[in-house]
Amino acid sequence: MVDLDGKGFGTRAVHGAGAPDPQTGAVVPAISVASTFAQEAVGKPLAFEYSRSGNPTRAALESHLAVLEAASHGFAFASGLAAEDALLRLLGPGDHALLPTDAYGGTIRLARRVHEPAGLLVDTVDLTDLDALRAALRPETRLVWVETPSNPWLRIVHIEAISAVAHDHGALVVVDNTFATPALQQPLALGADVVVHSTTKYLGGHSDVVGGFAATNDDELAERIGFLQNAAGAVPGPLDCYLVHRGAKTLQLRMARHAASAMAVAQMLSDHPAVSAVHYPGLATHPGHAVATRQMSAFGGMVSFQVEGGEGAALEVCRSTEVFTLAESLGAVESLIEHPARMTHASVAGSSNEVPGDLVRLSVGIEDVEDLLGDLRQALDALERPR
Ligand SMILES: Cc1ncc(COP(=O)(O)O)c(C=O)c1O
Repeated sequence: MVDLDGKGFGTRAVHGAGAPDPQTGAVVPAISVASTFAQEAVGKPLAFEYSRSGNPTRAALESHLAVLEAASHGFAFASGLAAEDALLRLLGPGDHALLPTDAYGGTIRLARRVHEPAGLLVDTVDLTDLDALRAALRPETRLVWVETPSNPWLRIVHIEAISAVAHDHGALVVVDNTFATPALQQPLALGADVVVHSTTKYLGGHSDVVGGFAATNDDELAERIGFLQNAAGAVPGPLDCYLVHRGAKTLQLRMARHAASAMAVAQMLSDHPAVSAVHYPGLATHPGHAVATRQMSAFGGMVSFQVEGGEGAALEVCRSTEVFTLAESLGAVESLIEHPARMTHASVAGSSNEVPGDLVRLSVGIEDVEDLLGDLRQALDALERPR
């Protein structure tokens, strides 16, 4: 294996994927479909014994993604929410968890509707406000959950500052790094204890797999996460592991293109009369721009915006793009458009985390940027024409 010490992210993304197979010379790991592995003697397995506990293709993915997050331990899960569920299971009844007000709707649903009934105490707080965080901490607070940039508002949370406050209080910090990816942001180096991903998104990168991942440098936490991975069993199959492993090798290239095009899209939207607000941390006017500039190497591929005509106009925009496909999810090569209030964030309707109907979210893909700008422009220009 190439010595990765001091190597750049692009080199680690390619060569951190593993060394050629010593027996065959294959430069990619085999998709190892065995569910069980022969043992030398009773209680003497070779490297693996049973594929829920460990599988060669999954192990290749776990060590690859751990390299990208500069973590000593990595764990792959069947989905992003399965990884999040394992992390919330680190807490017990009576423990208190603080989540951001605008976390992914499924994260809030998991905490509120699965873990709260089992005794976890859950509150949401605006993590862009350190005083609000301090006020929300309780003696029993064990976890502060960060998502930055956030979904769907693209708010920026200062990972280092939040980690300092949470650690002073004895609470763990988990960062959902799905939107930024390790190519643009390294939460463990900024003080977080655990980083979590929906690998369904940028790490996989091609809309063809659902998966999750968690990584840490803390040996004790790693042991507990590894136990939960095996004991609860929400593990990905080998083909899914292979797809994420393959996708992650091109992460740096894709993120550079996503970010450059998203910036062009955000600038075009800012100048369009049918748009009332644009949320993209790369814009100097974004309230989190200064922090994003410090903790991210580029601002990512997600943009959200609000339209002048309210919900009807937002739905019309979602209906009338062509290059941007109307679909949930994000982070893949193709551009997607969606209406958070009725789609990804419908599960938080009626709560304090509800999102307004005039909001549209874009996942900016890697198509030619002129085609993306033209597609959005025609959809927005149509709103301006008298009907
Ligand atoms: C930021 C974020 N975290 C976690 C998840 C959940 O991941 P999955 O759908 O792979 O379970 C999502 C899904 O959209 C997400 O956007």
